[in-house]
Amino acid sequence: MAEIKRVGIVGCGLMGHGIAQVVATAGYDVTVREVDDATLAKGLGKIEKQLARAVEKGKSSQEDADAIRGRLTGTTDYADLADCDLVLEAITEDLALKLELWKELDQVVKPEALFLTNTSSLAVIDQAASTSRPASFAGLHFFNPAQVMKLVEVVRGITTSDETFDAALAFANTLGGKTPIPTKDKAGFIVNRLLVPYMVDAIRAYEEGVGTISEIDAAMKAGAGHPMGPLALCDLVGNDTVGAIAEVLFTEFRSGRFAQPPLLRKMLAAGWYGRKSGIGFYDYSGETPVENPGLAR
Ligand code: CAA
Repeated sequence: MAEIKRVGIVGCGLMGHGIAQVVATAGYDVTVREVDDATLAKGLGKIEKQLARAVEKGKSSQEDADAIRGRLTGTTDYADLADCDLVLEAITEDLALKLELWKELDQVVKPEALFLTNTSSLAVIDQAASTSRPASFAGLHFFNPAQVMKLVEVVRGITTSDETFDAALAFANTLGGKTPIPTKDKAGFIVNRLLVPYMVDAIRAYEEGVGTISEIDAAMKAGAGHPMGPLALCDLVGNDTVGAIAEVLFTEFRSGRFAQPPLLRKMLAAGWYGRKSGIGFYDYSGETPVENPGLAR
């Protein structure tokens, strides 16, 4: 397998921008693709903000921050990923959209490139099998915020060659102190298999009146040592993403543990996706988040 120098990231949203920053910080040349200029500018703007904050806090020199930014190129054109040695997709958790994307990439990206998906729940094989190179396809799953969370799940699909898996693992090991953990291609892999039922259960607990939103979150922080409570975590991950993962796990395992609670479905209908939409379990429009008053209705 060729040495990895140029990396393509598809998607510069919640996960994509963080992954692009991590990969550029590790010294790779990164081309990040978004659907239009405005979305791309928003994603790259988030990276610039993080880099400026690192300089302000004295965690990075201006020179290093400039070099990282210099290694990042934005595009809206798949053809600009043609020469990448590795392409990782970090778009919405929607199989149809991902399959469309791989169809485009398969045609333009050089045949020896590695294809990786950041899917949090969908089977790697379904995406791999849609390309002409299923042996070169694996999963590389980052956690939110990608700049901070250490874990990267490295997923071996049933068609993934040893060479591809080793290359994906080796690549993850170059990403500034990340902890890569190998896992099989079972829906939800390790973390979401365990974390998503916990998150949806917290929503059910709230629905049943076990506690208020803040009480449930405060209890899990103070009682279980979690860095944030489960409902704040839903807002961080995105309630739409939590719902999408729960749906995939429910369909795969047919177990009520993964069923979307009715409240989550209503919140999604209302567009209350969490931090990304400014409102979820909490309302983020003020100086400090407050419980979403709509949920008490
Ligand atoms: N982007 C980049 N950096 C961020 C960030 C973000 N969105 N949020 C926080 N940080 C950085 C801060 O800049 C700060 O950096 P320094 O130490 O260098 O100053 C550091 O993280 C700590 O941040 P804060 O002091 O603001 O807040 P905190 O100590 O409460 O940490 C947190 C925030 C890292 C998010 C922490 O609350 C946490 O670990 N929460 C749990 C997150 C988690 O479980 N993520 C996994 C979700 S599941 C998933 O992602 C999988 C999936 O497929 C859905």
